[in-house]
Amino acid sequence: MAGQGSSQGFERVSIERLVAPLRAVLSIAIAAAEAEGWQLYLVGGGVRDLILAEGMVGLSDLDLVVDGVVGAGVKLAKALQERYPEVKLEIHGKFQTAALTWNGDPVLGDLSMDLATARTERYEYPAANPVVVASSIELDLFRRDFSVNAMALRLTSPGAGEVLDFYHGMEDLAARELRVLHDRSFVDDPTRIFRGARFAARFGFEFESRTRALFEAAIGSGIYEQSRAEHGKVPALQARLKSELKYIFQSPHWKSALRILIDLEALQCIHPSLNTRDCLDAAGLRRLWRSWCRMEVWMRDFGLGLGWQGMVEVLVASCARDEVNPAVELRLEAGAIDRLTQLPEIEAEILKSLQPGALPSQVYQVLRAYDEMSLILVAARSDDPWRCQIWKYLTQYRSVKPLLSGQDLKSLGYPAGKTFKLMLHQVLMATLDGVICDRDEAIGFCRTIGSPLTPNSGGT
Ligand code: CTP
Repeated sequence: MAGQGSSQGFERVSIERLVAPLRAVLSIAIAAAEAEGWQLYLVGGGVRDLILAEGMVGLSDLDLVVDGVVGAGVKLAKALQERYPEVKLEIHGKFQTAALTWNGDPVLGDLSMDLATARTERYEYPAANPVVVASSIELDLFRRDFSVNAMALRLTSPGAGEVLDFYHGMEDLAARELRVLHDRSFVDDPTRIFRGARFAARFGFEFESRTRALFEAAIGSGIYEQSRAEHGKVPALQARLKSELKYIFQSPHWKSALRILIDLEALQCIHPSLNTRDCLDAAGLRRLWRSWCRMEVWMRDFGLGLGWQGMVEVLVASCARDEVNPAVELRLEAGAIDRLTQLPEIEAEILKSLQPGALPSQVYQVLRAYDEMSLILVAARSDDPWRCQIWKYLTQYRSVKPLLSGQDLKSLGYPAGKTFKLMLHQVLMATLDGVICDRDEAIGFCRTIGSPLTPNSGGT
């Protein structure tokens, strides 16, 4: 860890370890805040990452808090916009949070920066969107998810470089633990457990035991279901949860994060039908996990990039049996909801038509009627041999080309016509089944398939 103790009892962290372009951006905000007599802080993940990392640090997301008047963030953002006229500035909500975004900047690359006045939050019901009111930096930090994300690095003088650590984040970083700041944390915001799983997977942290118990108590109490039933709109279980799933599936550590969420039984936050304990026995869970692991290998080896939305669909398909409610709750796009709605029917058709031990040509003929994503979803929730057959179709059979073309048939003397298509299809099926392996065998095969068309016969 790169934080250093100081004689005043504060931990100190130098922003000199930030890469020069970030320091240049911060220096403008710092000068503008000091001119107004405001305190400016770097907060959240940026402080955590600066403390954890050794050497120079580049961040793509900076959260700044001003201990000043409402609208102070906007004033600082405007000072930055004068220096960087190409930056995009958005102002959110009555609380006037300013968001600056640099996209593909030649020096800064992709950088986002939030500037807000210190504020605290109140949740009117579990998993609601918070109501925000102005507060001190101490309370602003208290509204956050985990102690390791609840530290503030003072950027302005006097006292620049001091880390405000009211909730013992440094200790938890050293112990590699994720600890919530108060008992209602998960009741207020269940997305925190998803964030926690992502951090745990990324940094190799563990949930502190009480934090784990608080989550288990929250989920066991049925509070989320009650909130869904009473309020209908529960953003932390819908759109905000979808964003967290996006971050998880975009991360290289997604598989570990998912494992942590399964162990915590947290997937049922998405929907009660994803309650792994009730829906799957230990053997079922092992099977599901193996299927995920294999899928990762297939995706890597065959370049099947599903993207995060595809991965969310697979998650829903592989856990939920006969319902699409999770997809609706998560506000997935209409195409995904349609696919998941039709999935049980498609799955039943495929399982009925595909016999174990079917020839590749038979597998091809059954599966070519379906789109790629639906087949991936069926594979994700099927056992062998069906899963294997689907993956072989997706990764091998569907890209096999017939060994002869229509032009070849023509030059072999077969008169052009509708039956070309049939012959080429038969050549393809024979290729898939390994009956023919090269062009000569294909020509020989055409002579033996008993087509009414034979060279120079002119038959119909
Ligand atoms: N936060 C929170 N609860 C949430 C989302 C965010 O308390 N549901 C707080 C956290 O303290 C977090 C800060 O808001 O540190 C900023 O959020 P974000 O930028 O999403 O998180 P980072 O910690 O910066 O994570 P990352 O490293 O993934 O950017």
